[in-house]
Amino acid sequence: MTVERKRMTLHRLREMHASGEKIAMLTCYDASFARLLDDAGVDVLLVGDSLGMVLQGHDSTVPVSLDEMAYHTQCVARGNRHAWIVGDLPFGGYHVSIDQAVGSAVRLMQSGAHMVKLEGGGWTTEVVRALVERGIPVCAHLGLTPQSVHALGGYRVQGRDEAAAETLRAHARELADAGAAMLVLELMPSALARELARALSIPVIGIGAGAGCSGQVLVLHDMLGLTRGKLPRFVRNFMRDVTSESMNDDRAASGGVEAALRRYVAAVKDSSFPVESVHGY
Ligand code: KIV
Repeated sequence: MTVERKRMTLHRLREMHASGEKIAMLTCYDASFARLLDDAGVDVLLVGDSLGMVLQGHDSTVPVSLDEMAYHTQCVARGNRHAWIVGDLPFGGYHVSIDQAVGSAVRLMQSGAHMVKLEGGGWTTEVVRALVERGIPVCAHLGLTPQSVHALGGYRVQGRDEAAAETLRAHARELADAGAAMLVLELMPSALARELARALSIPVIGIGAGAGCSGQVLVLHDMLGLTRGKLPRFVRNFMRDVTSESMNDDRAASGGVEAALRRYVAAVKDSSFPVESVHGY
């Protein structure tokens, strides 16, 4: 008897966090990949504003517009059947006022997102509260927040000294208290990320934040080895991780990507990705 796979829900994601079952998340920007990622068992598809870099060729996520995010969210929603879809609110899409943030979030939800993501702590707490009160699930994002790359002085590890770590702890607590239902932690010491994941009752998804999170996310093009130039050391190319059996697979071309996606899901689920010694901070 085949068991019908159920649609992912926030309730289920919370259960996974509570029980220690790892959550596999990847960025996704179009319908074809949404179908492949969903079929491979990816739990959460993030329509990330990283599309500004990997699809559009910009050197940061700053130029991405709300129209572009809505378009890619619609594409992903059409290809997806089971996964939870998170739509990134772009830079400038929630910075002006609560009304503006609500309008932007409504646009992404009506484009097919199940949840919106926004970056930063402190001033964002009120934005999160307003969205949650209006029935819009929110994923917060702390640590390296790429929309602030110019203010941060580059793509650097965050929270290394005790004062910065304490600010991140305070922001994480405030965002969770305001109703954020998920938290992404990017590029921070693994001990701090582990501590936050243990302290919070919401799923905490890491990217360059070590193995102690409730799940992991990578940029799709990075983990498929499509990104040129220097990659952060926490990225693993899952296309390269090929066994001799799959090399001889007749379906090498499409099987290659599908197999890489399945390897990623398996590695997140059995905690063989990421490896703390490779992460190194
Ligand atoms: O836009 C994106 O891809 C992201 C991930 C880096 C978490 O926000």
